[in-house]
Amino acid sequence: MRLSTGLPKLDKMLEGGFPQQTAILMSGGPGSGKTLLGLNFLVEGASKGEKCYYLSVSESKDELLRACEKIDSLKSSKDYIGKNLLIESISLDERINLEYLARLFKSYPKIDRLVIDSVNKLMVHSKSIKDYRIKLADVIKYLKEKVRCTIFLCETEEDKIDTGNFEAFECDGVLKISFLELEEKPIRTLQVHKMRYTSFEPRVNHELVIDKKRLKLSSKKTF
Ligand SMILES: Nc1ncnc2c1ncn2[C@@H]1O[C@H](COP(=O)(O)OP(=O)(O)O)[C@@H](O)[C@H]1O
Ligand SMILES: [Mg+2]
Repeated sequence: MRLSTGLPKLDKMLEGGFPQQTAILMSGGPGSGKTLLGLNFLVEGASKGEKCYYLSVSESKDELLRACEKIDSLKSSKDYIGKNLLIESISLDERINLEYLARLFKSYPKIDRLVIDSVNKLMVHSKSIKDYRIKLADVIKYLKEKVRCTIFLCETEEDKIDTGNFEAFECDGVLKISFLELEEKPIRTLQVHKMRYTSFEPRVNHELVIDKKRLKLSSKKTF
């Protein structure tokens, strides 16, 4: 059983969606669409009755719901709040460790879909790259047991797949969103770099469209 990604064309590319008991990294620069794609993934799950959780170290719950209001397919998010969609905002000061996560999940167990916005903010108090990597590996191992699929949003510089702290190596899947400067106008593109347990064409650019109606991958490949 796969988890549909919220983008039908991406599901097709990935044998039906994300594999279960995995951690997926979704990387991109500012405004690339990470937050909206994360919300889109959860609305997709919530509409099927799955238990979904957005853990934000960035925007508040109100700000996230406000972003959803701008896109028709995400408007239903508010209907799932208080049912099977939890949006929680935590402070950047919060020192995340496994006990902290365990406490969060104790009040909201058996999660199908989790989005963490963002992995680099969650780990911001790490003392060194080594410390960051050890803690991240622990968190990923813990979450893979608890949650069917976790998406870690990752704030990267232009065209990098992670922050340089080896997130892409630790995760089971890696998606990257970038801006492609075409002659007419820049477009957003999504590439799959890595997806364990899945046969797919790596690193092909697919146009990611964000408009008033929805988020979607356009059917044409771009180069
Ligand atoms: N209805 C819409 N139509 C077109 N673009 C939109 C719409 N809603 C949001 N956006 C664009 O999506 C971008 C926000 O994406 P977001 O997911 O917050 O980026 P990130 O989390 O990667 O920084 C904004 O730049 C915004 O202009
Ligand atoms: Mg964001």
